[in-house]
Amino acid sequence: MIVVTGATGNIGRVLVELLAGAGEEVVAVSRGNGAAGGGPAGVRWVRGGAGDAGSLRPALDGAHALFLVLGGELNFRGEAPDRLVKAVGDAGVERIVLVSSQVAGTRPDASSHDRLREFESAVRASGREFTVLRPAGFASNAFAWAGSVRARRTVHAPFGEVALPVVDPADIAAVAAAALREDGHAGRVYELTGPELISPRRQTEVISAALGEEVEFVELSRAEAHAGMARFMPERVVTGTLDVLGAPLPAEQRIGPDVEAVLHRPAAPFSAWVERHLPAFA
Ligand SMILES: NC(=O)c1ccc[n+]([C@@H]2O[C@H](COP(=O)([O-])OP(=O)(O)OC[C@H]3O[C@@H](n4cnc5c(N)ncnc54)[C@H](OP(=O)(O)O)[C@@H]3O)[C@@H](O)[C@H]2O)c1
Repeated sequence: MIVVTGATGNIGRVLVELLAGAGEEVVAVSRGNGAAGGGPAGVRWVRGGAGDAGSLRPALDGAHALFLVLGGELNFRGEAPDRLVKAVGDAGVERIVLVSSQVAGTRPDASSHDRLREFESAVRASGREFTVLRPAGFASNAFAWAGSVRARRTVHAPFGEVALPVVDPADIAAVAAAALREDGHAGRVYELTGPELISPRRQTEVISAALGEEVEFVELSRAEAHAGMARFMPERVVTGTLDVLGAPLPAEQRIGPDVEAVLHRPAAPFSAWVERHLPAFA
């Protein structure tokens, strides 16, 4: 049995489908009534979350593997990582696949990613088999543009020309599914990127082409972007995120080999993500 936290999220939603489609017994964890939102047959939905060990505990009974992702503000606050991971181990879970971030590796001193690094340390120390996924920026971050594309055919974003190896969350899910189901991934740290470097301006062109309509790109200053993000992120996370978006390190502009190595096919381009999610922008 495999437990999926964040099961209604960008990665989790796809992962639940992949695991169920492969015939796995899946427990999907959601704080709400995830099942009401549909989903594959045979998946058991359990109310809870990775925010505290107590709410996760009932989902873990009989599980041999856990997909652990920190949705929303769990990246900044919540249960102590070692306490949560100890509860997972105490429940008898043998294998943990953790979603961390590329930045946890590329900027070891960035306080924006302290908590993800603490979770990495906790799973390493757990005595369980673990795999750490360190993705680059997600294609699904473009959902933040969907409202203004629908209403005004406009994208507002900073650093219009800075290209990064944006990754499709469905590829992260596929790598997670492999690491949860197959042997050979224990102790591995996978850096997951897309197959191309793509800038916000180019992403806007891809959305425009998919819609068949002109979409205008309006570049925000760093200060304007900062003000918008500070409404829902702590200061250190806003600063850390804008540092990566505006002045990526060479290691953050590298197209990594791990998606293709695990999946035996190339990573999906941003255009594939847009095609699958076009109704959000139409
Ligand atoms: N976005 C990026 O560019 C990027 C890049 C690198 C790494 N990452 C990492 O990827 C992870 C996010 O993955 P994702 O996009 O698949 O997740 P997500 O869609 O943001 O969230 C997954 C689920 O977590 C649950 N959740 C949200 N807030 C919560 C809270 N306070 N307590 C408990 N559960 C909560 C929600 O499900 P319910 O409401 O159903 O409970 C949500 O659907 C983060 O750790 C992030 O740091 C992201």
